[in-house]
Amino acid sequence: MAEFSIARAAAFEGKEVTLRGWLYNLRESGKIRFPIFRDGSGVMQAVVSKGEVSDALWQRVGELTQESSVIARGTVRREPRAPGGYELVLCDLEVVQRVPESDPYPISLKEHGVDFLLNHRHLWIRSPRQAALLRLRHEVIRSIREFFDGRGFVCTDSPILTPAACEGTTTLFELDYFDLGKAYLTQSGQLYVEATAAALGKVYCFGPTFRAEKSKTRRHLTEFWMVEPEVAFATLDDLMQLAEDLVCSIIEKVLERRRPELETLERDTKKLERIQPPFPRLSYDEALKRLHEKGSQLPWGEDLGGADETALSESFDKPTIIHRYPAKAKAFYMQPDAERPELALCMDMLAPEGYGEIIGGSQRLHDHDLLLQRLREHQLPEDAFRWYLDLRKYGSVPHGGFGLGIERTTAWIAGIPHIRETIPFPRMLYRIYP
Ligand code: 4AD
Ligand code: MG
Repeated sequence: MAEFSIARAAAFEGKEVTLRGWLYNLRESGKIRFPIFRDGSGVMQAVVSKGEVSDALWQRVGELTQESSVIARGTVRREPRAPGGYELVLCDLEVVQRVPESDPYPISLKEHGVDFLLNHRHLWIRSPRQAALLRLRHEVIRSIREFFDGRGFVCTDSPILTPAACEGTTTLFELDYFDLGKAYLTQSGQLYVEATAAALGKVYCFGPTFRAEKSKTRRHLTEFWMVEPEVAFATLDDLMQLAEDLVCSIIEKVLERRRPELETLERDTKKLERIQPPFPRLSYDEALKRLHEKGSQLPWGEDLGGADETALSESFDKPTIIHRYPAKAKAFYMQPDAERPELALCMDMLAPEGYGEIIGGSQRLHDHDLLLQRLREHQLPEDAFRWYLDLRKYGSVPHGGFGLGIERTTAWIAGIPHIRETIPFPRMLYRIYP
């Protein structure tokens, strides 16, 4: 039989098991003590009755302090009143490390302010809610990998240290690279998956990306994780379809495998169950018209801001795809629309319930001379982009891809207001500790 874990307690009913974990809480009522243990997979109540166990065990349980580490043995019993429906009838307890009263665990079960919790992030992640968020994040990542691997994509990760900008020069983290001058932490792996897509057809990269964002919003981190598929010969329509399929698949897998976590987070899962194809698709022009009807003054030509995205995504109960933004509002590498060259063949996906952009992508410029012209217009260093221009000289094809932000997607699925709790150790404008 597989190893015991709290998440799988039901499969061990009536069996004697060993639980390796930590004390989450200790309750007492008369001659019964209820130590509540956690083992990383969940929390489980145990029970000891005075007189039914040795005095030594009774006392050892009574002296347990919050977050002391233990190895507990006992029998799994069905108990509908216990959280999770099962409890452990304790018969033995080994204390691995006892947290002393003189220096108790800093996070008590009462409410703490978010600054305090962020300063103790290394411990805060032990709380059931934070642990549920991290398990959810893992499921999002796992389902993404399953999705692309199942469709014949090859994972080709991009470098983190790069010689040039991808998403504008204003949010670059810069460092000295030996004798070779400046290097930058990557803002996106896209440029490199364009090369691997020409080598392998359908590829993706999945890794950390960096933006020196001076913004202090609930959707911005300075270090975040992005999955970036890139497909040779793909059109904008192909990309919108791929993005829709991907997001539906993530939601389906999370609902299938992470119900307990969604329950811990008190997520209204009906809202997630509604995420079925097709997603509404609006051109930028149509989106702007809707925004103007809602009282926005955004002039044509400007990118949508956070408030515009919120307004748009509140009016749909599914993710919404906005396509064909004005080229001047977007990055240098986007292919213009042949019918209206002032538009870029690009798309953003906005998550519902006001969450805003979770995906950004486009068809890439595949014409060498036009790309060179754009690099010059954006005053980007041609030398650093020589290899990128090569891709347009040797068998250039229409191609494209997109980036999905893991933290924003997880925050939406979890239904939490701020993305900082969806990554183990968030990096923000005013935070780099712990
Ligand atoms: O729209 P973005 O900037 O697109 C790109 O970087 C493209 N090069 C991707 C591609 O086509 N391969 O970023 C893509 C996604 C956003 O939709 C958002 O989910 C996330 O990355 N994102 C951030 N997440 C957290 N904090 C930030 N500062 C983010 N900036 C972007
Ligand atoms: Mg974007």
